[in-house]
Amino acid sequence: MHRERPESQGAALNYSLDRLEATREQQVLLASERPGLMPIGWTHPDLRRGRRIHPVLAALTALLLCACSDAGTGPPTVQPPTDNAAAFREVFSVPEDACKSCHPVHYEDWSISMHAYSFVDPVMFRLNEIGQERSGNRLDQFCVSCHSPIASRLGETPPGFNPAGLSRLARQGVSCDVCHKVKSWRKGHGIDEFWMNDFQIGTISDPSPNGVHQSIYDPAFARSDVCSGCHDIVTPNGVRVERTSTEWENSVYPRQGIFCQTCHMPRYKGRAAPSAPVRDSLHSHVMAGVDVPLTDFPGRERMLAAVEKQLQISLSMTVDAPASLVDGDQLRLRVVLFNHNTGHSIPSGSTFERQMWLQVLVIDPQRNDTVFASGLTDPNGDLLNSDSEYVKEGTLPLDSNLALFNGIPLRDGVHTPFFWEAHEVKFRTVPALEERNSIYRIPAGSLTSLTEVRLEVRLFFRAFPPHFLRKIDLAELVDRLPIFLMEEEIKNISIGG
Ligand code: HEC
Ligand code: HEC
Ligand code: HEC
Ligand code: HEC
Ligand code: HEC
Repeated sequence: MHRERPESQGAALNYSLDRLEATREQQVLLASERPGLMPIGWTHPDLRRGRRIHPVLAALTALLLCACSDAGTGPPTVQPPTDNAAAFREVFSVPEDACKSCHPVHYEDWSISMHAYSFVDPVMFRLNEIGQERSGNRLDQFCVSCHSPIASRLGETPPGFNPAGLSRLARQGVSCDVCHKVKSWRKGHGIDEFWMNDFQIGTISDPSPNGVHQSIYDPAFARSDVCSGCHDIVTPNGVRVERTSTEWENSVYPRQGIFCQTCHMPRYKGRAAPSAPVRDSLHSHVMAGVDVPLTDFPGRERMLAAVEKQLQISLSMTVDAPASLVDGDQLRLRVVLFNHNTGHSIPSGSTFERQMWLQVLVIDPQRNDTVFASGLTDPNGDLLNSDSEYVKEGTLPLDSNLALFNGIPLRDGVHTPFFWEAHEVKFRTVPALEERNSIYRIPAGSLTSLTEVRLEVRLFFRAFPPHFLRKIDLAELVDRLPIFLMEEEIKNISIGG
């Protein structure tokens, strides 16, 4: 069968639904009965209960369905093809223009989020460029398909695109519409399809009407599936390099009904729109993790504070050390990190760029001398491992005790700085509800003639190592890179006969 011109189909559906003035319940049913609304893993409760669609709507839907589907080729669809730029320009909007006036709080939260930053991020643009160069453009839309699914569909991001030339719509990244108009996706492969009409899907079951969009209730929007298209990454080589969603799935949290939203979208009381009633359970859209903008992106200060708080509640640190030491004995320390409060590993996601590390200092308080140190940085700000220029040159010693938690992408068994080229990732992370021990032995020799030492243990986190930013020619961002203190413990140990 010949496919109709896509734009007209989208418009026709909108028009018919508007004219019908379907009741709240009918709208829900209509959405849930449509083939394709329920993405992988979703079963709408109304479908499970086998409730039936309103006969008038059913007839109309059937008409629309057969008018615009290819006969006999899989499930019929009322959607125009998703690669039509004109349709996207018509249906998708810039949040500041289209949503802010009615949803000012949601807009403010989102506008400082990493979702809003995802397609103005200089690190993303630079890495994408490197990826295209190194792959002979074979990466194509791989990176953009998650960071700005709309930009990719607008056709604005062929390999070698100039970020300065992007339209305002393309720069919105993971915008309101990207989440609230989503139709189907695959875990780790981004978004497959969007609703090309005025649907905004959410978890308000009795939304007050408005003249701009239909509010479609879907309880599945409160669950982690809705995040899983992007929060696992499977590369073109078929390697699952990021696996936040998988880590959560494999933890106890799904069984306890704790979803991504439970932690990343805390509830507050208020009005979703000026014309709407006060509700107890609106959801924050800041979605803080560990990352902050490295540019003058608005709200950076607010994000810094949110990330700091998030990192300080995420795990617990216990330091096992003797209160006193017999002269001539070595000092043995054990630092235990227990991930008691994070629904996935720490770090998670872009583990290959994250650095969480322990700094352990044993200090002679009399002379303020450091008798043992691990987790210090060189003058470039890099840890003293094989990535440090100073260690490579031999001007500073290798920190052989370093406890660094991250992920290492390997290609043919060798570390690659470019995660999309990896064959596997070696994860050195702390999984949910697991603990990791780090043992330190300070030889008796370095403690001779001391009567007391001060032990200082700190856990730090940063989103990128400085050497990585320098390697991709973004050295100017190193000074803007915050280091967060997650945990700290200081104690004195007496030494005697
Ligand atoms: C003319 C005002 C207006 C504009 C403009 C507007 N909305 Fe809404 N929206 C509302 C009202 C009113 C509600 C219902 C809120 C309630 O009942 O608590 C709502 C509800 C929603 C819901 C919840 C749906 C549900 O059933 O859970 C989402 C999601 C949403 N809007 C997204 C958007 C997005 C995205 C934009 C911009 C593209 C937008 N809205 C623009 C007025 C508006
Ligand atoms: C029990 C609470 C909890 C749940 C559930 C949870 N998170 Fe997190 N998340 C956190 C905390 C705390 C952090 C900060 C510590 C960290 O992991 O680095 C975080 C960090 C993150 C980060 C940044 C990780 C990094 O190291 O770069 C991402 C991305 C993220 N979460 C996404 C998700 C997604 C997607 C889900 C659902 C599949 C989810 N989270 C479920 C608490 C939670
Ligand atoms: C990364 C995905 C994502 C983005 C981006 C996003 N939202 Fe949401 N939004 C959600 C989820 C998920 C919920 C429901 C959370 C729940 O019920 O647990 C929600 C809920 C809502 C609601 C219902 C009221 C509430 O607070 O629960 C409104 C209104 C809304 N969003 C508007 C917006 C607007 C406006 C934007 C852009 C400025 C936006 N959203 C961006 C995922 C997103
Ligand atoms: C369309 C893809 C997409 C969807 C859907 C999506 N995200 Fe994201 N998310 C991203 C991208 C891309 C980033 C990183 C942006 C950047 O830093 O450049 C991100 C960043 C984040 C961060 C911050 C991570 C950090 O290191 O600070 C959190 C937390 C997060 N998302 C949670 C969620 C939750 C919860 C959901 C589901 C309600 C969700 N996301 C849905 C693409 C998505
Ligand atoms: C399947 C969806 C998806 C694809 C494909 C994807 N990303 Fe991301 N990206 C994300 C998510 C989700 C995050 C947030 C993870 C976190 O914070 O831990 C992110 C974070 C980032 C960040 C910022 C955070 C950081 O510290 O690294 C950069 C830069 C980035 N991605 C670049 C890229 C590049 C370049 C590509 C292509 C080679 C790419 N991404 C492909 C989903 C995706």
